[in-house]
Amino acid sequence: MRDRVERLWPEIAWIGDEDLREAVLRTWVLAFERSPLGPDDLERIPFTLLVPDCPATFMEHKRSVVHVARRSAEAMRELLGRALPVDMDVVIAGAILADVGKLLEYEIRDGRAVQSERGERLRHPFTGVALALECGVPDAVCHVIAAHAAEGDLVRRSTEATIVHHADFMTYEPFRAGHGKRGAR
Ligand SMILES: [Fe+2]
Repeated sequence: MRDRVERLWPEIAWIGDEDLREAVLRTWVLAFERSPLGPDDLERIPFTLLVPDCPATFMEHKRSVVHVARRSAEAMRELLGRALPVDMDVVIAGAILADVGKLLEYEIRDGRAVQSERGERLRHPFTGVALALECGVPDAVCHVIAAHAAEGDLVRRSTEATIVHHADFMTYEPFRAGHGKRGAR
């Protein structure tokens, strides 16, 4: 499964700190061990259940969030770095793990991804933090997972969590507004 996760997530290699890289990889492996979903499902199912017939897959969206977050963080460091510190490893690891809890939030019914009973009670920010803590992911990264979605609107987000939150929403809201291309898959 480690190999499969590394192929699914080439961006894990961007994490500079070796311990963090390993903890992120372990979190995804653990999530698959506990999930009814397999890696192939993530290349097929839509990234959100909130957009009917969403044309973007789980992996297409999740990887785009990591790329957008990283490039945004780089631009901010380049132009604002003197005034605003940004921890690039926390941005990248947080973006890679933001939705790992969806593996415990979804199940497949009649070939389609649906929210499981557990998912209704514990959305992915909560299950994501639980998985990540179990794998030794540091609090700064768990904070990004916890605060990336709407639940985080009640939290004073770190700079890194703010970046990941906006990367997530800027790549989601156009679909939510109906701009996704029908039949793109
Ligand atoms: Fe999310």
